Amino acid sequence: MKYFLDSAITDEIKYALENWGIDGVTTNPRHIQSSGKPFYTVIKEIANLTKDIPGFTVSVEVNPHFRKSDEMIEMAKKLAALSPNFVIKIPCIEQGVSAAYKLEKIGIRTNVTLVFSAAQAIMAGRIGARFVSPFVAWKEEAGEDTRLYIDDIATIYRNYNYKTEIIVAALRNCKQIVDAARSGAHIVTAGFAIYQASFEHPFTVGKGIPMFEEFWDKTDTSQEKH
Ligand code: E4P
Repeated sequence: MKYFLDSAITDEIKYALENWGIDGVTTNPRHIQSSGKPFYTVIKEIANLTKDIPGFTVSVEVNPHFRKSDEMIEMAKKLAALSPNFVIKIPCIEQGVSAAYKLEKIGIRTNVTLVFSAAQAIMAGRIGARFVSPFVAWKEEAGEDTRLYIDDIATIYRNYNYKTEIIVAALRNCKQIVDAARSGAHIVTAGFAIYQASFEHPFTVGKGIPMFEEFWDKTDTSQEKH
């Protein structure tokens, strides 16, 4: 399963590239706003940081005010021209899926986002979107179960051999990463802090390392004498 970083903070992206070997970046209007930089400045910075990594993708979202496929297509073309790594995020509404369908036909890769049901994910798979992004935490926050929902999407995609890759998105904890992997999703996208947390466990840091430190200190570990 590939790990994408869900962020538009360039320092986080740099760190994750250098230390964790992340496979892609996903942005959204909230992440861009949190970066504190203008939209075009930050997306160009991210494109520049990642331009030499083969197969690396950066998802960039069209203006969320757009409701018509033509206006989404026009902006998508402009964004795609800025970097070969850009994949264009399009909201999963009828006009959005129609835009993604037309964009994929002319070679512009899309990420159908704001997906909350298997029915929506089927639409993205049918039209050959490069990625689909089913959101997890928002549904859980609304009291819905999400294991079955991601399992369903993964099963349906396998049943019909859809080429669209599933990016399990809007994650809030390590368990949701594990659930995504168990479902056979291709990719997870999560924030910096969630990946950081997933390296460690309280037993590793709070118990195992201090215990082994104690034993180490009681042992003769000098090389010279032996
Ligand atoms: C995914 O591509 C989205 O950017 C993201 O996961 C949205 O959800 P969040 O910002 O609430 O995590």
